This record gives sequence, structure tokens and C-alpha cells, in this order.
Amino acid sequence: MDHFEYRGGVLHAEDVPLPLIAAEVGTPVYVYSRATLTRHARVFRDALSVLPRVHLAFAVKSNPNLAVLKVLAAEGYGADVVSAGEMDRALAAGIPAADVVFSGVGKTAAEMRSALAAGCGQFNLESEEEGEELAEIAASMGFVATATLRINPDVDAGTHAKISTGKAENKFGVPYDRAAGIYARLSGRPGLNLRGLALHIGSQLSKLDPLEAAFIKAGALMQAIRAEGFAVTHMDLGGGVGVPYKAGEVFPQPAEYAAMIARVTDGWDATLMFEPGRLITGNTGVLLTEVVRVKQGALHPWVVVDAAMNDLARPAMYDAWHDFSAVTPKGETMTANIVGPICESSDTFAMAREIDVVARGDLAVFRTAGAYGATMANTYNSRPMVPEVMVDGAKWAVVADRIEPSTILSAERVPEWLE
Ligand code: LLP
Repeated sequence: MDHFEYRGGVLHAEDVPLPLIAAEVGTPVYVYSRATLTRHARVFRDALSVLPRVHLAFAVKSNPNLAVLKVLAAEGYGADVVSAGEMDRALAAGIPAADVVFSGVGKTAAEMRSALAAGCGQFNLESEEEGEELAEIAASMGFVATATLRINPDVDAGTHAKISTGKAENKFGVPYDRAAGIYARLSGRPGLNLRGLALHIGSQLSKLDPLEAAFIKAGALMQAIRAEGFAVTHMDLGGGVGVPYKAGEVFPQPAEYAAMIARVTDGWDATLMFEPGRLITGNTGVLLTEVVRVKQGALHPWVVVDAAMNDLARPAMYDAWHDFSAVTPKGETMTANIVGPICESSDTFAMAREIDVVARGDLAVFRTAGAYGATMANTYNSRPMVPEVMVDGAKWAVVADRIEPSTILSAERVPEWLE
């Protein structure tokens, strides 16, 4: 459920007509609905309240906008970060460092040091090597780093190969069979307080079964590690529950997810940690765009919009589907291809899709663009960095400026030996 609705034939974000934002800010522009964001944050939190001890860390990578993080901080979310940059954002939004989980397969020594100095609540270790390095750094700083060990449960998440992370051939975590040995060795290290296991098998999961299989494996390992006399007090179950992108698609509801977890983790006696991203932010945003022109094609017309793969990379990278709707629909549909202006064929949002009839100058949105949208944007083809707007009832504000190509150009230098 979201708060992007037609009123009087015009698509609104909450109480704000989208043509108003297009006129004031220009297009393309991401538009977020605060009410939708808050709603998703609460639905997930409330669903998990059936579990005894829960820690929620929003996956900042899905939408790191400062205003978005502020809203989630106020809803009691911690943060799951994967870089010093994300850590800085979480802290800037007022999320306590103690509620930050530092994930990622390539944390640098500098990132470990700065996160430790800030008081980072937990590091999710991706390897024995990383655990040894973190222990050494923490000990040299006079700290004890709190950590979990990420395991690779070798479970097929049944999602797109590029966003699948829990198969043995993926780079993430330590092999399941070696995890107990690594846990035992790292547990003895001064500078490290290893307190649990972590896993995350992939993103945009449409079924709960792979998650359940992975959690069952993690639970068995937890018991085996405890049987060896080591403490396991925290189990980080990752993010990954998907959202519908196409009208009519059915996805697991947070309550079903919570019921499955309650069943699998019954008797675990551990704090359960979660790192949801897409489930919280996916439906909270649309990418508002203007039709540059409609050009005739061999099979179907090409609707050329002013948004491109640099603004919304998901269709080009993962063949992802984003519903496309006219802001002021005319009540008729046409079959068309939707593309951006970038000079490569991967800059395609949809082929042979039945869409609202649109013409030059019309506004339209790509829906469900709040997660992995603006955060993955770049300036390819020397296009501007796409701006972001947040709506709250009848109020709205630019929450990230459009960065003009001239600003980016001004950061470049020609060395004097080229003059
Ligand atoms: N925790 C870890 C360790 C992760 O790697 C991720 C996502 C999450 C949590 C959050 O997963 P979520 O709840 O959002 O599924 N750019 C891709 C998605 C990449 C996901 C990367 N990791 C896309 O646009 O589909």
C-alpha cells in the first residue's frame, strides 16, 4: 500500500499533485512519500513484535537519503551500513552508533578504525581474515569489537543471480562447514567479542521457503557452536523479503514472515536482528519523468523519457520491471517501448509494454523506485545527478539537490603538462 493516488485524474504524492513538483524542481526527480515510509516501517516493526528480542537495522544502501534516515531513526530503526560513508549518514541522521551494524565483504582497516572510534554496535564479519584484522585493530585501540560471523548457508534464494548472495559460489560469508571452526578460533581473540551468526541470502525474495531453509541451517549451527561451549546471543537474519513491482503480484506479508521466524526460532534464546531495505523503502518512492518525444518504431513506438539508466539502473542491470503510469492518464492504452536518452541499448525501461497513452511533454512515473533507485544513480553521459523530493501531507521539500554537470566538471583538472 502506498500514498501515490489519482485525485481528479491527476497522480498525487499524498496531497501534492506531481505536476507541481515537476514544474518547480524539473524532471527527472525522485518523489518519496513520508506517510508510506512510516507505514512500512511500522508494519514491519509491529509484525516482528511477536518475537521476544528484536533489533532492527535499516539497510541504508537501499535508500541512504538523510531525510529518509531521519524518518526511520524516529521509528526506532538502527542502521545496517556497508561503508564509512553510510556510517556517517546513519550518525548524521541521529541513529545511535550502538544501533549500527557494519556489514560488507571489504571493510578496510581505516573503516574499521573509524567505526570503532564512533562506537559501532556490531561488525558482521565476512571471513576469518577479517575477524583477525578487526581483533588486532580493536586491541591496538584499547577496544573490544562486538561481532557476528556471517555464514554462507549455500541456499538458493530463487532471485536474480546478480542479487543472490547465499550460494556457495557467492563471495559472501564463510562456508557453512567451516563456520564452527572459525567461530571457535575467533572467539579466543583479545579485542573481539564474537556473539553470534549472521546471514543474508539475497534480495527481492518472492518466497519464504529459502529463508526458512537458511534459518534452520543457521539454528543448527548455533546449537553446535553452543555445544562446544561458545556463547551465541545474537542471530542476524538479514534482509531480503521482496516487494511486488507489477500490479497484481503477490508477495509474502510481514506477518507471514514473522510467523515463519517465530516457528523456526522457537527456543533459540537469542536476540534476533533484521536488516530490511527494500521492504521498507521500495513502495515509498516514484521516479517522475517527462516524455521527451514519441518516435515511430519498426514494431512499436519508442517512448523516449527524460529519465535514463543512470537515474534508475535496475531495469538495465537486473531486467527489473517498474510499472509505468501517466500522471494525467487519458483513459486509453498503447503498446510501446520505453527508453531513456542514453547512448546504449541497455537504457531500456520496458519493451512491448501496454502503457497509458502518452505524448511529448506528458509526465509519467516509474513506480516502486524508492529502494535501489536514487542510491544507484550516477552521471553517465554527463547527465545531472538526479534530485530527490519528500512529500509529507501537503508539504514537500527537495531533500537532495540536482547536481549539475557543471558542478561535476568543476571538480576535474587538466594537469599542466597537458596544456
Ligand atoms: N543485508 C545485507 C547484508 C545486504 O547485502 C542487503 C542487500 C540487505 C541487508 C538488504 O536487502 P533487502 O531487504 O533490501 O532485500 N541493487 C539491487 C539489490 C541489492 C541488494 C544488496 N544487499 C536491486 O536493485 O535489486
